[in-house]
This record gives sequence, structure tokens and C-alpha cells, in this order.
Amino acid sequence: MNSVPRVVVLGAKGRLGRVLKNQCADQNMLVKALGRTELDLALPDSIPQALEGLEFDWLINAAGTTDVDDCERHPKLAHVVNAEATGALARACVNHGARLLQISTDYVFGGDSRALLTEQDVPAPVNAYGQTKLEGEQAAMAEDRRAVVARVSWLFGGDKQSFPDGVVMAGLAGDAILRVNDKWACPTYVEDLARWLLWLVEDGSHAGVIHLCNQGVASWSEYAQVALDLAGELGLRLRTTHVEGHTMEGFDRFIAKRPPFTALDTGLFTRLSGIAARPWQEALAEYLKHRYTR
Ligand SMILES: NC(=O)c1ccc[n+]([C@@H]2O[C@H](COP(=O)([O-])OP(=O)(O)OC[C@H]3O[C@@H](n4cnc5c(N)ncnc54)[C@H](OP(=O)(O)O)[C@@H]3O)[C@@H](O)[C@H]2O)c1
Repeated sequence: MNSVPRVVVLGAKGRLGRVLKNQCADQNMLVKALGRTELDLALPDSIPQALEGLEFDWLINAAGTTDVDDCERHPKLAHVVNAEATGALARACVNHGARLLQISTDYVFGGDSRALLTEQDVPAPVNAYGQTKLEGEQAAMAEDRRAVVARVSWLFGGDKQSFPDGVVMAGLAGDAILRVNDKWACPTYVEDLARWLLWLVEDGSHAGVIHLCNQGVASWSEYAQVALDLAGELGLRLRTTHVEGHTMEGFDRFIAKRPPFTALDTGLFTRLSGIAARPWQEALAEYLKHRYTR
């Protein structure tokens, strides 16, 4: 491999894809970011042609059908984009002499236990999103034995609005803030995540599944309350300062079932890299300061 990795990023307009592109450039990596118009994952047969002529050492796939309820409504499309296309990408990587870094999700787990989930725990998805992402993981590793599958959870940050932004906006507007209190995971800052992913690319020693997230577990309602508290500390004029919790049962806005507990254990990454992820609260404070006090 060249001393400077040449990287293709898919999901050029997505939350993680944009941040990855910027960080690759900051680290002087040669990066080409492709959006849906240049490479459509809904058309897996077109992938070899879309990558023709590009020279790269790694392809990071941060694109996919990411709306959990949309996947439940359109499972065939979710399967093509999240699973079939991932297999086609892995094959294309092998043909280019490159490696695939596939971004996956904590939703591959069923969420019934209350222990942090390691790479050895057995996936058992409860919805079409988790199922198709798991099939994507399997396709990636079947086609490219050097593929890396990074499972991540609850992303915030980047240019797109995410969960904490919705909470802060509701707080500023004075709306009642109701959030689920019986579903837990690890909120994760995309800027931190992109740094860890690029560490994996630069290092190159790991193949297979790896879990990446900020440290600490929260329910959605705890996550929302911390976001509000931090926004208050930044001096934002909140008109709602308290989050009301409610259970998932009877919450009719969800189409897909959600796994209750999907907090990831990141011990493997720390052992490999020597990097200990910071607590999500610290990362969220940095993001909110950057986003709301510029
Ligand atoms: N966000 C989270 O909380 C979370 C949690 C766990 C795992 N993940 C995983 O992390 C990765 C990145 O998530 P994200 O939050 O950055 O997602 P995102 O903001 O929704 O970005 C996904 C990107 O995929 C692109 N895309 C969708 N269908 C496509 C198609 N047919 N062909 C080509 N591109 C297509 C979208 O393009 P357009 O911009 O054109 O629509 C979008 O830019 C995904 O693999 C996701 O499963 C995310």
C-alpha cells in the first residue's frame, strides 16, 4: 500500500460520510467522496462501473438505508442497498486490490441482555434494518476476507441534525419533550468516530468486526436530559428544561420494533489502538458548544 492511503468514501452527503471526507483531507489522505448520483447502491450491478478508473486502497461505506422505519416499510430495497450492494462493494474492492470498511450498527443485536455487547456476542436482529445490515456484514466478510466491519451506535454531530439537535430545538421552542426511557445505547460523536475509523485504515492490522462508540450508556430520555442541561449551561434560552420519559410499549410512532439494550463494548479497539473513547457527555458538550455558540 502507498504510504498515504487512498480512500473512497460512500455517503458523501451523509452525516458520517461528510465528516470522514473532511478528516481524510485534514490528514492528507487522498480522498474521493461519492454520493448517490455517482454510485447508486440500489443498483448493485452498476457498482463495478461506478468505481472503474478509481485507484484506492480503502473504500469506506458510510452510505445505506438508515431510516429504521423506512426499512420496515420497504424491506426489499433495504436488502438490496444494505446487503446485496455491500457484497458487490466487497467484490469490487478485491478486484481493485483494496479493502472494504463497512459501517454497521448496534441494531444487529436483539437487545435482551443488559451487558455491554462484544464482537463475540451473537447478533439477533429484531427489525428489517438490523437484519439487512447484518446480511451486509456477512456479505462483506464473505467476499473480502480483509474487510473491516465497524458497528457504531446513535450518531450525533456533523452537518445534519440529529437527536440532540431535535431536543435543543424543542427546548428553545418551549415544546413538551417526551423521550423513550426503556431503550439504551451509547451516544457517539461522528468526529470521534471518524478519527477511530481512520486509525483503523492507517494501521491496517485489523480485519473483521469491531465495535466503536463513545463511553457510557444512556436511555433516550437520559440522553435528551443531558443535551438540555448542557445547552442550558451554554446559556441557550431554553423554555423547556425537563424531559419526560415514557416506555416504548404503546408508542405508535414506531413502525419497526427496537432492540432495548444495544450498548457496545469497545475493549477490542482500545486494546488494538491504545485509544480510550471519551465519555459521550464530554463529546456532546463539545459538539453543542461548536454548533450553538459559534
Ligand atoms: N445515525 C445513527 O445513529 C447510526 C447508528 C448506528 C449505525 N449507523 C450507521 O452509520 C452509517 C452512517 O450513518 P449516517 O448517520 O451518516 O447516515 P445518513 O446521514 O442517513 O447517510 C446515509 C447516506 O447514504 C446515502 N444513501 C442512501 N441510499 C443510497 C443509495 N441507494 N445509493 C447511494 N447512497 C445512498 C444517503 O444519500 P442521500 O444523502 O442522497 O440521501 C446518505 O447520504 C450507516 O451505515 C448507518 O447504518 C448510524
